[in-house]
Amino acid sequence: MNSLSAIANPIFCAIDTPDLTAAQELVVNLGGAAGGIKLGKEFFTAHGPAGIHQTRDAAGVPLFLDLKFHDIPNTVAGAVRIACAMKPYMMTIHASGGPAMIQAAADAATVGAQETGLDRPLIIAVTVLTSLDQADLKAVGVAASPTDQVRRLAALAQQNGADGIVCSPLEIEILRQDLGPDFVLVVPGIRPFGTDAGDQKRVMTPEEAMQAGASHLVIGRPITQNPDPAAAASAIADSLSNIRQA
Ligand code: C5P
Repeated sequence: MNSLSAIANPIFCAIDTPDLTAAQELVVNLGGAAGGIKLGKEFFTAHGPAGIHQTRDAAGVPLFLDLKFHDIPNTVAGAVRIACAMKPYMMTIHASGGPAMIQAAADAATVGAQETGLDRPLIIAVTVLTSLDQADLKAVGVAASPTDQVRRLAALAQQNGADGIVCSPLEIEILRQDLGPDFVLVVPGIRPFGTDAGDQKRVMTPEEAMQAGASHLVIGRPITQNPDPAAAASAIADSLSNIRQA
């Protein structure tokens, strides 16, 4: 059984590069200072499953496979099942694919794990992309506010067998209330005190996000752009150790 308690360090470092050598150097340099790594569409499209295997093995920590599947249920089920071979700790789908698609993904993760003999990966749903504002939602025919739409899709994900969702820092508290203590909340948009927000508009510190109820933090540039990524990750992890034990 894949469980949250399996990972003591909640930081997943976003390896946002299409450069295989740079990714390997980074994860080796991190040396386990982050609790996990996140690899996404850019890296996967460049290097495929072989690149994912290589980088995950070099990292030696759990993998968050962020491919955000969204298609008809049968196709997503097939993709999730095959993706289990990349040994992810968790992987993403779009909640807006609907109840049957979410359910198909959750079931396929169980089947895929049985086939590989590995832990069942967590199915994490993306709700409303943070790049979409009210006007964008209206343009695609959604009248609800972004927050209402996030809450609606998060509940839909939970009701249909997803294990968690990706959410922005400012949504943590309300979603934790909506979804209860065990649903996994994966949170990007994290900036340690005094670091550059870059293009992130709504940020929280790692401590604030964990105190608000985050399960895992996705942190990229504050670690990867630091001259000493391992030290940066360790400092963040140390700052969280009291909160995790609380
Ligand atoms: O460098 P930074 O810490 O901003 O990286 C955050 C990571 O989380 C990136 O991989 C980004 O694509 C991802 N992400 C995000 N906001 C979302 C969803 C994912 O920043 N809403």
